[in-house]
Amino acid sequence: PADRRLQLCEAGDVAPGGMLRVQPEGIDPILVCNVDGKLYAVDDECTHAIASLSEGRLQGSIVFCPMHGGSFDVCSGKAKSLPCKQALRTWPIDIVDGTVYLLLKS
Ligand code: FES
Repeated sequence: PADRRLQLCEAGDVAPGGMLRVQPEGIDPILVCNVDGKLYAVDDECTHAIASLSEGRLQGSIVFCPMHGGSFDVCSGKAKSLPCKQALRTWPIDIVDGTVYLLLKS
């Protein structure tokens, strides 16, 4: 079957340095991050415990969790500081006519 895509937001909804939490149908919440004008999508929930990274802080490509201050690189998903150890899931996206889509492998 063909890959599926889910509409997330408009590219203009996320300013450089900004983040947006999106809850698409049927999957976990997604965090869309704008790093220097380029958009990245990762899981919104911290892998350490239960916290929405959208309520944290984005500094360059590093998102800091609001709960215990651990961090991740949103470009690679890699955990960058403790207590976060497990990488965040990263998602491929596509931008068509200013609309951001999440690509789901079937
Ligand atoms: Fe994110 Fe602990 S829940 S660092």
